[in-house]
Amino acid sequence: MKALTWHGKHDIRCESVPDPQIQDGRDAIIKVTACAICGSDLHLYDGVMPEMRSGDIMGHETMGEVVEVGKQNSKLKVGDRVVVPFTISCGECFFCRRGFYSGCERSNPDHSKVTKLWGNSPAGLFGYSHLLGGYSGGQAEYLRVPYADVGPIKVPEGLSDEQVLFLSDIFPTGYMAADFCNIQPDDTIAIWGCGPVGQMAIRSAFLLGAGRVIAIDTVPERLALAAEAGALTLDFLQEDIYDRIMELTHGRGADACIDAVGTEADAAASWDSRVDRVKVALFMGTDRPHVLRQAIHCCRNFGTVSIVGVYGGFLDKIPMGSAINRGLTFRMAQTPVQHYLPILMERIQKGDIDPSFVITHRATLEDGPELYKTFRDKQDGCIKVVMKP
Ligand SMILES: NC(=O)c1ccc[n+]([C@@H]2O[C@H](COP(=O)([O-])OP(=O)(O)OC[C@H]3O[C@@H](n4cnc5c(N)ncnc54)[C@H](O)[C@@H]3O)[C@@H](O)[C@H]2O)c1
Ligand SMILES: [Zn+2]
Ligand SMILES: [Zn+2]
Repeated sequence: MKALTWHGKHDIRCESVPDPQIQDGRDAIIKVTACAICGSDLHLYDGVMPEMRSGDIMGHETMGEVVEVGKQNSKLKVGDRVVVPFTISCGECFFCRRGFYSGCERSNPDHSKVTKLWGNSPAGLFGYSHLLGGYSGGQAEYLRVPYADVGPIKVPEGLSDEQVLFLSDIFPTGYMAADFCNIQPDDTIAIWGCGPVGQMAIRSAFLLGAGRVIAIDTVPERLALAAEAGALTLDFLQEDIYDRIMELTHGRGADACIDAVGTEADAAASWDSRVDRVKVALFMGTDRPHVLRQAIHCCRNFGTVSIVGVYGGFLDKIPMGSAINRGLTFRMAQTPVQHYLPILMERIQKGDIDPSFVITHRATLEDGPELYKTFRDKQDGCIKVVMKP
């Protein structure tokens, strides 16, 4: 089959690889009908995530048709149309039973390796390095889905691939980011990053009753899409974000602040970003957490900082003094996708939201390598790429 494979920093190729096989009775094989490139894939593309190997198959936003099921899998049938969550979860362990699917303690065979780095291991993820399971990803013609009697959700009649594909990741992620904010009527929610995740967070914050959303980025078309959803937009290269948020909130700060940027914050944003970039380049630091620092400072006393932008290691100069003395709550996670799927599928069916609004580029797998670059560089108005193998 054809698949997008990783061969080093900025080197993604579309090549022929062996078809996946059933390896366990609970598996299923999916013929991929649509897959997408996520902002998290850019951390692999940019080489900031360790433990990738040459030839690894990329991708964790995938849907398709079931073409084969393992003998113990009574949940799926050949021909079912399903969306596959990016988190791989057994459904039975301590964490899965409590709904913390992205904390599954059985699905990461690289458990011991990641425990050295993070103290313990989260769930395995599709196409996300040999720290998180080394599972082949879904930017391919076919995908093997482990624990396929837990993760995939069947697509009801009448919904198109584009309407439901983002249930695999960015819609639940943006929704969780807003959900973490415990939104009360009239709350002001400030959201850093108007990429696909930020866009889902903006709309989810309104769905959950936010009075006002302040959206921060610098890319004109991303700010325009945020404004279309009703957000007040700020450009971090044109305005002082702290000053503007204070001005808009009577000097108090936002009720909740969402970091939908993560470790690759734009280095042009400020001096601390530039220092972060140098330290990471010299292996003296692991991440560039400018947005997290700013989100903490811009959050009101006893407000919430909700972090969905991904970080990898040990973060420098996080203003914990500000956080503890002002009573901030921190919430963060790799999304336990399965937990949010039923309610979000229902929201799509009811017409509360059509997540396909974010798609700007439709392409084939062969176009994938070029589109990684286009998406990373935000060229050609690119906000979200969907590929149909
Ligand atoms: N927690 C999860 O489960 C989960 C799931 C999916 C994605 N993510 C993460 O969410 C983040 C965003 O993903 P995406 O697909 O939207 O990626 P993206 O790279 O397209 O979007 C990031 C946006 O942040 C903006 N940005 C950069 N520096 C900024 C700054 N200083 N202030 C404000 N905005 C700034 C960029 O211009 C860009 O538009 C990534 O870190 C990704 O890994 C997390
Ligand atoms: Zn993702
Ligand atoms: Zn589990």
